[in-house]
Amino acid sequence: MITMASSQEKPQLIVDGKRLDGRDAGDLRPISIQTNVVKNAVGSAYIEWGNNKIIAAVYGPKEALPKHTANPERAVIKCRYAMSPFSSLEDHGRTGPNRRATEISKVTREVFENVVMLEKFPGSEIDIYVEVLQADGGTRAAGVTAAAVAMATSGIPMTDLPFGVSIGKIGETIVVDLNKIEDNYSDADVPMVISPRQDKILLLQMDGNMTKDNIKEAIDLAKKAGETISKLQSDALRAPYLEVMEKYKGEKSSYDEKQAD
Ligand code: CDP
Repeated sequence: MITMASSQEKPQLIVDGKRLDGRDAGDLRPISIQTNVVKNAVGSAYIEWGNNKIIAAVYGPKEALPKHTANPERAVIKCRYAMSPFSSLEDHGRTGPNRRATEISKVTREVFENVVMLEKFPGSEIDIYVEVLQADGGTRAAGVTAAAVAMATSGIPMTDLPFGVSIGKIGETIVVDLNKIEDNYSDADVPMVISPRQDKILLLQMDGNMTKDNIKEAIDLAKKAGETISKLQSDALRAPYLEVMEKYKGEKSSYDEKQAD
């Protein structure tokens, strides 16, 4: 039940210390990640992050086309983020690219330009697709998190596995992982993407106002949340191999048999 002073005013987003969905300030929504969900892609992943449902697919490296887009020294990344017309209750207007989708495609591309070893594939392109099937706030962060797993399953070398999370400010409280209603009515929303091994911030955008101290707290909280998100990413990458190991547990491989001879 959302408490509103009037239909025009913003809802009270924290009641008795709890957020509307029952979370504490530092809690993430439930996240699950699955790999290899798009047969034709070189790498793919599906993420459910709260009520967000997103597919990420990676194609390439392949010859960069049209040719004038190629760089003889390194691969180029092309990225398309799109929200499906049925992904939210809001009126999306036309379903093709809009300013928001163009912006999110650009910042997502820039994240991967910082971690993919582009110099290994001169003249080629790598395509990243992020398709939002269901949206509930924080889709750019969840999209990058899924795209990183998709990129890893493609085997394209990266220096790190980036993750995204958005941090917000509700009144004076800094909270992790805003959902849609929080995103709409919070005092600030700061989506971030972090490269944990390199300890670098690859994306930081801000809607609203935060003080310098707020930003510091937000970065610390994002890194803390990242411990959980990074683990879910690597667990998802490991899962198919563990399944195979489980299936053949106890059986001797041809290698074992040869060794025994
Ligand atoms: O998704 P993210 O928080 O990265 O981006 P946003 O532009 O801050 O949008 C916040 C949320 O508003 C999205 O996650 C969607 O749930 C919703 N939205 C929508 O329903 N329709 C749009 N055209 C744009 C946003």
